[in-house]
Amino acid sequence: MSDAPILTFDAPSKLGKVVSVDTSRVLIAVENAALLPRAAVGSLVAIQGTTAQEFLIGMTERVTRQLREQTAQPDPMAPTTLAVEVVPDDALRAVLLGTYRTIEGTVRNRFKRGADSFPQIDRDCFLIEGGNLQRFMGLLGKDLDEKQRLELGHFVIDRSAAAIANGDRFFQRHAAILGSTGSGKSCAVSLILERAHARKHANIVVFDMHGEYASLANPPAREGSIAPPPIASAFKIAGPGDLAKPTENTLFLPYWLLNREEMLSMILDRSDQNAPNQAARFTTHVRGLKDTTLKDEKQETVRATFTVDSPVPYKLTDLLVKLREDDTGMKPGTAKAEIKGDWNGKLTRFISRLEAKAEDRRYGFMFKPPDAALKYDWLAKQIVNLLAPANEKPGIKVVDFSEVPSDVLPVVTGVFARMLYDVQFWMQPEKRTPFVFVCDEAHLYLPVREDADAVEKQALYSFERIAKEGRKYGVSLLVVSQRPSDVSRTILSQCNNFLILRLTNDQDQNVVRRLMPDSLAGVLDGLPLLDTGEALLLGDAILLPARIKLKFPAIEPLSQTRNFWQEWGEKAPDSAAVAAAVETLRRQSRTAAKIA
Ligand SMILES: Nc1ncnc2c1ncn2[C@@H]1O[C@H](COP(=O)(O)OP(=O)(O)O)[C@@H](O)[C@H]1O
Ligand SMILES: [Mg+2]
Repeated sequence: MSDAPILTFDAPSKLGKVVSVDTSRVLIAVENAALLPRAAVGSLVAIQGTTAQEFLIGMTERVTRQLREQTAQPDPMAPTTLAVEVVPDDALRAVLLGTYRTIEGTVRNRFKRGADSFPQIDRDCFLIEGGNLQRFMGLLGKDLDEKQRLELGHFVIDRSAAAIANGDRFFQRHAAILGSTGSGKSCAVSLILERAHARKHANIVVFDMHGEYASLANPPAREGSIAPPPIASAFKIAGPGDLAKPTENTLFLPYWLLNREEMLSMILDRSDQNAPNQAARFTTHVRGLKDTTLKDEKQETVRATFTVDSPVPYKLTDLLVKLREDDTGMKPGTAKAEIKGDWNGKLTRFISRLEAKAEDRRYGFMFKPPDAALKYDWLAKQIVNLLAPANEKPGIKVVDFSEVPSDVLPVVTGVFARMLYDVQFWMQPEKRTPFVFVCDEAHLYLPVREDADAVEKQALYSFERIAKEGRKYGVSLLVVSQRPSDVSRTILSQCNNFLILRLTNDQDQNVVRRLMPDSLAGVLDGLPLLDTGEALLLGDAILLPARIKLKFPAIEPLSQTRNFWQEWGEKAPDSAAVAAAVETLRRQSRTAAKIA
């Protein structure tokens, strides 16, 4: 870019003058009525700063024309009639976003966030449009190093300018993609994954609730051309149909990975009067069984410091044996006869709850892991497979949670995230590769704390910890949701970058408003009006909050959008498929149905 100032204004582009200032907002009296129709909400204005080289940049929040009646100039032909004419008062309100200088020290054309000075009354204001706008938008991504550029689409106010975020900043302190259903969230996720894939060693784990992102690992062929190469590896939490023949991409989360609280949140009924006894005996036995494993494995160093929460394998059957011994145990009485032991009869309900879960095939990924998953070195292999896969495999991992029962979904996502986070935590700092969890449909497992049950609280605990401390260890969250008002506030308020698509619900809009600085309230008023694939990009990854049109991803996620009207015209219901689905429902496995 040449050294010439990128913003130059001539008299016709002068909009008017500042008439009032209130911290971050300015009111501009529009003198050039011809320019007013060209200024829309979201357009940019420049206000002359304290020196000739400085302009404060603002974004239009409101454009008004008020009609006022005034006495007209007396008509020289009919001086006795007093005419009243209607004249417009044009005004424009803008929120200040940054400061532009044509020269700052030795640097030419510098834009920075924040207004360096307050605008002064009567200062000249200009509308940034045409060549000025093009050059200005180009300036926004200019200082970004090639290595940091995350190109997301183009700006709506200037379609020729690419909207480029700072990829480092975008992920550094968590980000969120929010928008009503059908607004384009999944496509935005695909686009970001596609961009990340272009980095050589992207490290992303996607929690895929509906199997939507399977297409990224197995791109469908498009009409007339071959399928594009995959950008992700597919993993799946084992469903009932995967238990018999798991593949290397079938994931198990064996019960022994769960810490004490996670396990108890699923099994313990806190209203049971014996709950404290049950929790205590469970803890004692699990610790004992883990100790035995460590002894057998000759892991004496681990044995010296492990806790009941350490992920050490043990056999569930052994735990059940020990609990039953307690539950039926007798002890010597005062007389010769034996009397009931201390825990006799107190664990019965706990045991039956545990057995019920252990026998339910839907929980097979947890309670019926393959024998290999009880080996001591199994865990390291699994985590390596996820965090540091062999070189030829894509570093983006799409994990399909679609067959996980909804009542344990929070524990499963929570345990999964906690395991990977803990490994990263304990890794040598200089050896860590940063990674991101993409939490799709976050409202399903990261609810608002007041609404959370015992199981959900466990997931919240894991994710809130990542939200608060993850940055230090190179772990970040990308929270995606259509119901921001149902997502944990703690987590959302830790997010520093937002891609907000069309959001129609009032409650959701209010949550988003509360997350943003007050000055952006006007910009957010446009949320219900955004087109599909249009978003407000806000946060420290971009110099200026901006309305952008997202690029459509090369590989579309498997859409849930059905064309009811068209399909009713074209496709008859398939009776065999309906009958087969009934069997699938009985089996609780889609995989099995495909084989049959
Ligand atoms: N950037 C975009 N440009 C054009 N169309 C888009 C864009 N993003 C999404 N769409 C369309 O909108 C529909 C819904 O998108 P999707 O990402 O599934 O929404 P969501 O995940 O928010 O429900 C899709 O059928 C897709 O074709
Ligand atoms: Mg979606």
